[in-house]
Amino acid sequence: LHKDEEEKPPTSSTAQTVKIGIYFATWWALNVVFNIYNKKVLNAFPYPWLTSTLSLAVGSLIMLVSWGFGIVKPPKTDFDFWKALSPVSVAHTVGHVAATVSMSKVAVSFTHIIKSAEPAFSVIVSRFFLGETFPVPVYLSLVPIIGGCGLAAVTELNFNMIGFMGAMISNLAFVFRNIFSKKGMKGKSVSGMNYYACLSILSLIILTPFAIAMEGPKLWAAGWQKAVADVGPNFVWWVVAQSVFYHLYNQVSYMSLDEISPLTFSIGNTMKRISVIVSSIIIFHTPVQPVNALGAAIAILGTFLYSQAKQ
Ligand code: 3PG
Repeated sequence: LHKDEEEKPPTSSTAQTVKIGIYFATWWALNVVFNIYNKKVLNAFPYPWLTSTLSLAVGSLIMLVSWGFGIVKPPKTDFDFWKALSPVSVAHTVGHVAATVSMSKVAVSFTHIIKSAEPAFSVIVSRFFLGETFPVPVYLSLVPIIGGCGLAAVTELNFNMIGFMGAMISNLAFVFRNIFSKKGMKGKSVSGMNYYACLSILSLIILTPFAIAMEGPKLWAAGWQKAVADVGPNFVWWVVAQSVFYHLYNQVSYMSLDEISPLTFSIGNTMKRISVIVSSIIIFHTPVQPVNALGAAIAILGTFLYSQAKQ
């Protein structure tokens, strides 16, 4: 990715390492907060189509205001840019809503264990849709990823098919998002922050009619009243928190994509899932059986082996 800001002076490798470290730590911390508020909201208000739309709406609003007030320089875009962004947005929308539907049905930790299999989806899609082949160790690393996720799934105490399929669909959609976004960004000069802003706006436009069709204002109004009665007036702040933190963690992740290779990014993403899995199990007192935890550990180890093999 290239930036629309002015050229930056070259930085030393230590400064670069510190910078990436700060990006990663911020990305993970924002993601943990998002996941906690997102689940608190879904527990009280089980309408994932609306909450995922609100995440995109708040992010879009933050960026439109930032551009309007000159806090962030708006990107220079043309028709070709938006055309290339369309498939990325469709994939982002599907991946986002599928993950949120999943988390409305199962524990946050379970969704993220299944989502740690994203590299396996990436290899399969690249192999069958793009005809790319990989060295044997890459294929071998899929064995612990798929086996570990399978073990975690069959031993999950609160297994739910929609929750499982949502996380699987999200994996598939995000692999396509990454493939399309690599193609779409080639030669374009939009920063990671602005790229993600445009992605949010287009995804919001795509998702809104589907959210209305799937749930709709009648259910939302009744659900909202019940949530406020159960949780109290603070409920609205939970919704604000999940939306703002959703935007911020994605924005930081796209900003870090400007600085690092896709491989480093996927390692960072797996480590992010470990922090989410561990913190959500503690906060929500999720029951975990030893064999269930073993499955998750094998899957995550497989992802690390995958990144080693890809190097
Ligand atoms: C979402 O709501 O989009 C998912 O929680 C995204 O998950 P990820 O960014 O951790 O892949």
